[in-house]
Amino acid sequence: MALLVSNSFNGVESVPKDYVMPPERRAGDFVRVCNEIPVINLVSDRREIVQQILKACQEFGLFQVINHGVPDKMMEDMMALYDEFFNLPVEDKLGVYAEKPRKGCTLYTSGLEYAKEDVHYWKDTLKHPCHPIDEHSPSWPDKPARYREEVERYMIEVRKMGFKILDLIAEALDLREGYFNEVSQEHTMAINRYPPCPDPSLAMGIAGHHDPNLVTFLQQDIYGLQILKDGKWMGVDPIPNAFVVNLGYQLEVISNGRLKSVEHRGILNSTTSRTSIVTFFGPNPELPIIVEPAKELVTSSNPQMFKAYRYNEFIANYLALAYSRRQGSHKGFALESYRL
Ligand code: OGA
Ligand code: NI
Repeated sequence: MALLVSNSFNGVESVPKDYVMPPERRAGDFVRVCNEIPVINLVSDRREIVQQILKACQEFGLFQVINHGVPDKMMEDMMALYDEFFNLPVEDKLGVYAEKPRKGCTLYTSGLEYAKEDVHYWKDTLKHPCHPIDEHSPSWPDKPARYREEVERYMIEVRKMGFKILDLIAEALDLREGYFNEVSQEHTMAINRYPPCPDPSLAMGIAGHHDPNLVTFLQQDIYGLQILKDGKWMGVDPIPNAFVVNLGYQLEVISNGRLKSVEHRGILNSTTSRTSIVTFFGPNPELPIIVEPAKELVTSSNPQMFKAYRYNEFIANYLALAYSRRQGSHKGFALESYRL
């Protein structure tokens, strides 16, 4: 069995050999938190919000939202819940554990396939589908005892916020309300846990990647998330109870390249466990959904930038590349082969 970082390396004094990244895969020089990354107040003038979102999605592919409607107390309770979950003895987590992510609920460690990695990531992840809730919640962890009830309530609020933000993005692109509904029916949560690492300069939390889905909503407690902008890594300020909204590949394609998806990664620290609670919205990969640039956004002056494809085929391609990238290969990104 692969070792969960949260159970195996408490208090170790040096980074175990198979977690020491080769120099080119380390985080490198200190990266400052960037205060230019937009923070958008969702309780303000709608036209202004739409303008801010458009600019953020074009320039950064990422922004933060405050006053988003998900109650502070609920977000704090979620952090406490996951703290408890990851601190459980390993026996209590084995029920959901698997060596690599699978379709249903999975607790796994490191990158995408521990057994095939030469070096591992200093991270454990609990991942599960969330929609429809009644269908999936029986597969979620049963410890802590309040898990299913709390996560169900959180998911209802995150869905409300998510669809509201997607409508703001649609408006920013002059697309009709509800435009993204069909391609955002799948909701999956991934909770990443990065325990303190004795030497954060040697190990990595999560390697640089773009999210393959439509849009991602991330709740974080402490610093560790970075984005790549104009060839430089920048830190995302962990604002208490804000959500980080980052665009995935499908929004870049549907917007015909007007909006950008963002490359991001997670670094470590030596003192505190970091938790990110991530909700992915995207097309249902089980359905034969075709993704392509919105017809409204393809004009003679903005020719079609991406071919149409089946979402499930895109995901298969993405995963094949992600497996090799996370082992240090530089085969390029999944979107490239769809560009016209
Ligand atoms: C992810 C991700 C970043 C983080 O799970 O896709 O990018 O801060 N996580 O944990
Ligand atoms: Ni990501």
